[in-house]
Amino acid sequence: MKAIEIRNKYLRFFEKHGHTIIPSAPVIPENDPSVLFTTAGMHPLVPYLLGQKHPAGTRLTDYQKCIRTNDIDEVGDNRHLTYFEMLGNWSLGDYFKEESIAMSYEFLTKELGIPNEKISVTCFAGDEDCQKDTVSFTCWRNVGIPEDRIYFYGKEDNWWIAGEEGPCGPDTEIFYDTGKPKCSETCQPSCNCGKYVEIWNNVFMEFYKDKEGKYTKLKQRNVDTGLGLERMAMLLQGKETPFEIEIFAPIMEKLEVLQKYDFIESRRIIAEHLRSSIMIIQDGGRPSNVDRGYILRRLLRRAIRHMNKLGISLDTLADIIDISMNALIEMYPELNANRGIIKQVIIQEKDKFIRTLQNGEREFEKEVKKLRASGKNMIEGKTVFNLYETYGFPKEMTEELAKEQGMEVDTKQFEQLFKEHQDKSRQGSEVKFKGGLASTGEMETKYHTATHLLNAALKQVLGEHVHQKGSNITAERLRFDFSHGAKMTEEEKQKVEALVNAYIAMDIPVEKFEMPKEEALTLGAEAMFIEKYGDIVTIYKIGDVSLEFCGGPHVAKTGELGHFKIKKEEASSAGVRRIKAILE
Ligand code: ALA
Repeated sequence: MKAIEIRNKYLRFFEKHGHTIIPSAPVIPENDPSVLFTTAGMHPLVPYLLGQKHPAGTRLTDYQKCIRTNDIDEVGDNRHLTYFEMLGNWSLGDYFKEESIAMSYEFLTKELGIPNEKISVTCFAGDEDCQKDTVSFTCWRNVGIPEDRIYFYGKEDNWWIAGEEGPCGPDTEIFYDTGKPKCSETCQPSCNCGKYVEIWNNVFMEFYKDKEGKYTKLKQRNVDTGLGLERMAMLLQGKETPFEIEIFAPIMEKLEVLQKYDFIESRRIIAEHLRSSIMIIQDGGRPSNVDRGYILRRLLRRAIRHMNKLGISLDTLADIIDISMNALIEMYPELNANRGIIKQVIIQEKDKFIRTLQNGEREFEKEVKKLRASGKNMIEGKTVFNLYETYGFPKEMTEELAKEQGMEVDTKQFEQLFKEHQDKSRQGSEVKFKGGLASTGEMETKYHTATHLLNAALKQVLGEHVHQKGSNITAERLRFDFSHGAKMTEEEKQKVEALVNAYIAMDIPVEKFEMPKEEALTLGAEAMFIEKYGDIVTIYKIGDVSLEFCGGPHVAKTGELGHFKIKKEEASSAGVRRIKAILE
């Protein structure tokens, strides 16, 4: 069954059961700056779950376009998606557990034809906030699920809330048994070996969790459900991954035809990120360095990097976008009207990104020149690795470039470095660079943020050659070493001071992100010791002013810093200057 058929069956089924079909909200939430994207069907319905009257009544159903960004780095494996469609049905103070469970069971078994034996379910085990959900247990037994396929778990599995605060409650989750053998004696739905796949979540929302973590009863008892469409299509079509269903198959096949190097993960990343990007652009998103635009930029650049990895010419991007859109048109006919603009936005971002990559090629050429001058024709593995790490050059691409130049590549050394790098990230060794931070009291935290602003201001005033060479912070002052060949003039010092104070006056929020190192580098994040960082890095972003690798901590907004003053500027070592500065 195709995804669109499942969607249509779902909406018709719930319509038959008295629900009004409502349209999907955009992936970019309307009038809600507090979240980047719509992450669940309940999201646009929060006011109604809290008791406001919905104009379409107390029984609603829809498909909701969703984006979840916390797993971007996992995309490429056999299941993670950034964009997905969630089918949902809601009771706003109308029916509760019994009817909800009965309808879910009927839909799965009668409409989708899933045999009873394939279904296992989980219910809430109970704790000090809410009693054990024996009602759901009984409902499941009554519809015909045997007791040995009903499991009880605690809050970590069977409680649902969007974020930290809001409407929430115990849930009952429905799992599909793929028929794979149990991974162990104790293999259960909570196990992620792949035998059980979660297909539907029915949340019984009768609580509100406040900022302090206190639970109170809502005005009304609601039901909020979510069924992942792509996953359901995958299971019903007997596929192992969502990338094999009709939404992704055409682009996956095209990429396979175009590729020079065979990396399935890269094909999935391109297919997934292009679809997500198309849906974000359709709803008004544009690449930028902040918030939603920043996520979109990451998605697009990651897709483009992986086109390079496969050795696919970026000139084919327009065709690939068309293939991706064609596979989506039946589900989202509204895309047709925006085909031109969507393509334009993606191609423009590609062109921007190409310039970063060109810097990588220049780096490569510099290296070749150097080697030639010293009569060598072997490019060191270290160089290959650096190109891979910093500019996203796959080894194969460097090899090819080397061949064109009549050079050879030390692949052995590269493999060795690559392996070391992988081992390091496997150990989860995120080495946090503390910038000489001995302790992290309030003042030290402020000086830490001031250091980022100073670094940015120095670049502005003195030039892009300025890079951090060292840093030391106490509660009384900051000390900052940076590359610059000459003593700073009075005017330069004043300019830097004024600029830092202007950044402070702008009260810019300081944001923290986590991402793979190579991605942070392609976004232009400033780093002192690249090799000090693990595979996943933390970067801090201060508006458009600063983007740095850093373990933190930082203040929430630059306005907290007070007044910045340079006390001293002196030589530190050859080509390195030192500034001591205070906040008053
Ligand atoms: N809101 C619930 C979920 O997203 C249904 O799983």
